[in-house]
Amino acid sequence: MTLLVLAGTSDARQLLEGLQGVDVIASLAGVTRSPADLPAVTRKGGFGGVSGFRDYLVENAIKGVVDATHPFARKMTHTTAMVCAELGLPHIILQRPAWVADAGDNWHFVDNVAQTAGIIPVGATVFLGTGRQTLPEFSCLEGRRLLARVIDPPAPPVMAAFNGDFLIGTPPFSIVQEVALFRDKGIEWLVVKNAGGAKSRSKLDAARALGLPVVMINRPKLPDAHVVGTVDAALKWVRAQPW
Ligand SMILES: NC(=O)c1ccc[n+]([C@@H]2O[C@H](COP(=O)([O-])OP(=O)(O)OC[C@H]3O[C@@H](n4cnc5c(N)ncnc54)[C@H](OP(=O)(O)O)[C@@H]3O)[C@@H](O)[C@H]2O)c1
Repeated sequence: MTLLVLAGTSDARQLLEGLQGVDVIASLAGVTRSPADLPAVTRKGGFGGVSGFRDYLVENAIKGVVDATHPFARKMTHTTAMVCAELGLPHIILQRPAWVADAGDNWHFVDNVAQTAGIIPVGATVFLGTGRQTLPEFSCLEGRRLLARVIDPPAPPVMAAFNGDFLIGTPPFSIVQEVALFRDKGIEWLVVKNAGGAKSRSKLDAARALGLPVVMINRPKLPDAHVVGTVDAALKWVRAQPW
């Protein structure tokens, strides 16, 4: 049997580390320019939509799929759930729990980037920790000073169209580093996707320490599928399959 793991997250990496000895193929979308190698045979690039994904699963005799993509990788997650249901393939979504505000956090929840404009005042200095792909959507924050942290520099047209500054950096960052950055740049607001996970929470802990408000973008709705919240639960599911 061959298991397909849809990767692109640290949970996917950890899962693959626990699957040594299992016949597994990892898949990356190819959006990060130089991703660190995964501990598994890895294919890169999109499948070509619903029909391309269906063909890939059939042609490669895939017997099960773990979708360990990012909570905001909505398209891939919905395609996977739909095609696996259609083919009758065992499938789970590995998605870590969303962050929950603690005492002292000042979070404003929105469902999309456009809604941030109704919350963040004109003139504010804003840190965007939302990744490269959503940058064009932040044209809605006209009149604010934007600082976007990204892993790879965006393509020149995106860079040129973005009304703000960039900071290139690869996570994780410590709370001390985040506090220093926010102070140094005079950050007054943060915009963050509710990705969850302990490591990337440091920016939120830093915001709380500095009393900064955060606009938290809610996760997209999941399809109807079996969801597990930890790598251990995903490993248990894989081992329990009759293959
Ligand atoms: N969205 C985020 O904030 C975020 C953050 C960190 C990491 N990531 C990772 O980056 C990747 C792309 O994110 P996205 O938000 O663009 O996702 P998306 O909107 O769900 O996917 C866009 C397209 O990228 C391809 N794709 C996505 N994940 C893939 C995978 N693991 N293997 C092969 N193809 C994949 C698919 O192309 P086809 O339709 O051609 O098959 C999909 O339709 C995901 O794997 C995700 O785990 C995303």
